[in-house]
Amino acid sequence: MKFVFLILFPVIAFAGLPTKEEQFKISLATVIENATMSDVRPGMVVASPSKSNPDYYFDWVRDTSLTMRAMVDYYELKHDSRTKRMIFTWIDSEIYRQNLPTMTGLGEPKFNVNGSGFSGPWGRPQNDGAALRALAMIKFARILLKEGQQDFVIKKLYNSMMPASAAIKKDLEYVGHNWREHSFDLWEEEKGMHFYTLLAQFTALQEGAILAREMGDGGAADFYQEQRNQIGNKLKEFVDPRVGIVVTKEKSARLDYKNSGLDVAPLLALLHTSPYQKLFPFRSAPVLKYVQTLIDSFNDHYAVNKTYPDLGVAIGRYIEDKYDGYQTSSAGNPWFLSTLALGEYYCLLRNETKNRKLTDLVEKQFNRVLFHSDRQGHLSEQFNQTSGTMQGARDLTWSHNAFMTAMMRCGLI
Ligand code: NOJ
Ligand code: NOJ
Repeated sequence: MKFVFLILFPVIAFAGLPTKEEQFKISLATVIENATMSDVRPGMVVASPSKSNPDYYFDWVRDTSLTMRAMVDYYELKHDSRTKRMIFTWIDSEIYRQNLPTMTGLGEPKFNVNGSGFSGPWGRPQNDGAALRALAMIKFARILLKEGQQDFVIKKLYNSMMPASAAIKKDLEYVGHNWREHSFDLWEEEKGMHFYTLLAQFTALQEGAILAREMGDGGAADFYQEQRNQIGNKLKEFVDPRVGIVVTKEKSARLDYKNSGLDVAPLLALLHTSPYQKLFPFRSAPVLKYVQTLIDSFNDHYAVNKTYPDLGVAIGRYIEDKYDGYQTSSAGNPWFLSTLALGEYYCLLRNETKNRKLTDLVEKQFNRVLFHSDRQGHLSEQFNQTSGTMQGARDLTWSHNAFMTAMMRCGLI
């Protein structure tokens, strides 16, 4: 009986799974839906349509920046006017909120859907947001410059005026002057210096310096470049003999249960700053050591990895995680965006090394994700580490934009 099951397993398990290409289309449609909700200020993106248990009906600067980076990448491929309009609307909404009086200014992590700053208790500031937004906008500015739309770029995205009013310059000034401050990590839990935040800041300033110089703002370019170099020195402190790259240092607010230093955040940082940053190449010793440690630890940690060993490795945020998508007194689970991150990493590594063997590993990561989806195109935040069924915020925008990004970077779109 067992023997028959093993032979039939692949057939049964994959019956009715959407193809990657089908999922891409649904993910794109879902991102657009979450970015154009009728009761939300135009240009803002809800993290999920879920309004309770959990309430993710807010716009997080991080999630939105990553989403719009995916849309800029998509526009670069398709040059379609719908996507372009969406990006323009987003830029206007970012300029609006950059100028709002909020509790921590450009460090504010999340906003109400009417556009006002969220002023309840929260882990703030979160200083990755401004850097990620700058990176998405710099990429779009370059596309516009190529298209001959210099006037728009000067008016809204980059000009040398101080105090800064153009969107990219405002973010770069914030990043350049505040990167030394402790802030909350991307998981909104620990305060300190984070590899993720610093690498985003490093890359935003590096690319910002290039843009500033192009736009005739040489003094600013020098300043951004100098801060970038200093962040680079700081980042070297995160190389760690045990886990390769350690997630957070100098903690000033901490979780008493998070101690290993191993987290998927550095992997996300490498992806979110690719192809620009070269300080931590994919094939460098600390990165290889880190990714292997991550894979081995999660592979071992989640039952679902052993139940379905033919699929790629299900990855979560960090091993000690207690957030189950609803509350933080439970056990963490694999996340779609983390599991996709490993697939995207294999693709980027394959592009560099031309190692065709990696293609198999890429397929397996996509299969893992599709397998734990509801097979109708929905992707929530997490899937249960034992049963494998979805949980947490439904149709998390970040899960869908991670799917889109992985597909585009793997050359599948
Ligand atoms: C919601 C946060 O966004 C999540 O990252 C965190 O783990 C929980 N709250 C608990 O702090
Ligand atoms: C919780 C995650 O930890 C955080 O990174 C994210 O920004 C919010 N949820 C919204 O998706």
